[in-house]
Amino acid sequence: MPVLDGLKVVRSAIHGYGVIALRRFEEGEVVCWGDGILYREDDDFDDTYSLILPGYELTADKEEGPPLFFDLVCQTRWINHACDPNTYVDTDWDEAKKTARAWWVAVRAIEPGEELTYDYEFAADVAEPCACGSARCRGVIVDMSEADQLSPELRARLR
Ligand SMILES: C[S@@+](CC[C@H](N)C(=O)[O-])C[C@H]1O[C@@H](n2cnc3c(N)ncnc32)[C@H](O)[C@@H]1O
Ligand SMILES: [Zn+2]
Repeated sequence: MPVLDGLKVVRSAIHGYGVIALRRFEEGEVVCWGDGILYREDDDFDDTYSLILPGYELTADKEEGPPLFFDLVCQTRWINHACDPNTYVDTDWDEAKKTARAWWVAVRAIEPGEELTYDYEFAADVAEPCACGSARCRGVIVDMSEADQLSPELRARLR
């Protein structure tokens, strides 16, 4: 596994393991690139640490294909969710290598020791209670456009 410069995996106050910055990152700076293995929806794999990607592989009709999964295999797999995150993850498709690329960008200055987070925007069917601790915590890790599809238990946790 490659070791990402300026980042460290630690026990997190949010959940399990998390990733902290070892140096300051400026707003707009690329914090890291994530290494991953690509899976398709019919593959048998564990999606716990996967980014869900758009259907970059086009159909024969040149339409967007089914979603793809990018199983993160570097420290990025331990970056936790927050409702008021300090990074966002961006992705694109490397047509030559037939795989995805993913990178994390600071949305504000990040100080050494600060835990990195991004907004998972989970679909309602995989949503989970959120423990990010932010004053702007939504209570549930979910894409808010799907909030009306949450189970009653999770809907009751929304703030
Ligand atoms: C990719 S893992 C992140 C690393 C995780 N902390 C670990 O130690 O394995 C994603 C899982 O971590 C947990 N997680 C991440 N952010 C969370 C948060 N803000 N609140 C509660 N659980 C969180 C959820 O169970 C989520 O499915
Ligand atoms: Zn939250």
